[in-house]
Amino acid sequence: MARTRFYQGARVILSGMIESRSFSSKPQLVESDSFFTPLEPEEIALKCKHQIAGRKFLPGSQGKGFPEYLASARKGLPYALRADPEAEVSPERWGQLCRDQLNKMLPEYNAVLFRNLPLLDGKDFAAFAASLGYKPISYEGGTGNRYLVNGETEVYFSTSDPPDFNIELHNEMGCSPVHPKKVIFFCLIEPNEELGGVTPMARNSEIFSQLDPSVVEKLKEKKIRYTRYLPHEKHKPYASWQQSFMTNDREKVEEFLERENFNYEWEKDTENLIYWYVLPPTMTHPVTGRKIWFTQPNVHHNTYYKESPMFQGVTLPDHMYPTHTYYGDGSPIEPEVIEHIRATGWRNAVGFSWKKRDVIVFDNLTIQHSRLSFRGDRLILAYLTAE
Ligand SMILES: [Fe+2]
Repeated sequence: MARTRFYQGARVILSGMIESRSFSSKPQLVESDSFFTPLEPEEIALKCKHQIAGRKFLPGSQGKGFPEYLASARKGLPYALRADPEAEVSPERWGQLCRDQLNKMLPEYNAVLFRNLPLLDGKDFAAFAASLGYKPISYEGGTGNRYLVNGETEVYFSTSDPPDFNIELHNEMGCSPVHPKKVIFFCLIEPNEELGGVTPMARNSEIFSQLDPSVVEKLKEKKIRYTRYLPHEKHKPYASWQQSFMTNDREKVEEFLERENFNYEWEKDTENLIYWYVLPPTMTHPVTGRKIWFTQPNVHHNTYYKESPMFQGVTLPDHMYPTHTYYGDGSPIEPEVIEHIRATGWRNAVGFSWKKRDVIVFDNLTIQHSRLSFRGDRLILAYLTAE
């Protein structure tokens, strides 16, 4: 309650601040500009080297074309802003101010980092994220190991994968026709940079322009078949269908699969679920109208799991890994194609140093993100949006 009263008071002060701050001689400025200072790449740069080529538990890193180290943030990737430390503004109001900046910056830069927001915990982040005004989307049908934060309905722990595993570059649920349009991460516990915990990113357009045209043509022509193998939770798997669909009710799962026009079957003896569908490697961006590379033949490929600590010492038939990809006609995708896509992604990737309370917003259709392995503490929360 005390806090509510404080913010009500702050709002009165704020309206005066807005009035005086908005007398600007530069017409291109928007009201929220006066609450932020742009940060230079050096101010968010990586503080130590993060090996990529040959990195343990990074899918494909023993192959050709990986850069030796992860590059550091460069001008505009991500676009970074520091919130005014003097502004006494509620998380909700910061949400509105940040939305104003996102409307302006996200179409051009695709990734926007906000530093120094007064968000103390997951509850503050939930209030902030809701105030951005994007419609939230659930993680139903997602392939990762992701759970809701206790007491929250829209805020997730970013991942529950083992910390020594490197999650490769991907667009969130880019393997599915149902995917978030924006991914918002919040740093609750700052990683110790030396011990890892970086969230690299890469622009889809840069990767697309550097892929071998013959690889792109073949994928366009044959498309990609995505398969999933989701065991019943009684088998204690990496990810069960109950976890993926957030229900124990098979009918609800079938409702989802039929709505999406996916092919599926239940294994009789095991009660495990297998489903699959075919998608092209490109799509049209709903806002810019550009043809974009939006696909995951590599991330969904079972080599992703074969090289992870979760499946060490385990050998399964190809289709029994949690996910796998083929060409649309069911023929295998050549290992060198998977390797080429992975290496092209990492050659375009950059990282930045997380600070506690940082928020980064990714346009999920134009930016891929990943996570490098870490030791020590690191806690990133996630919020996904439908628009
Ligand atoms: Fe992700």
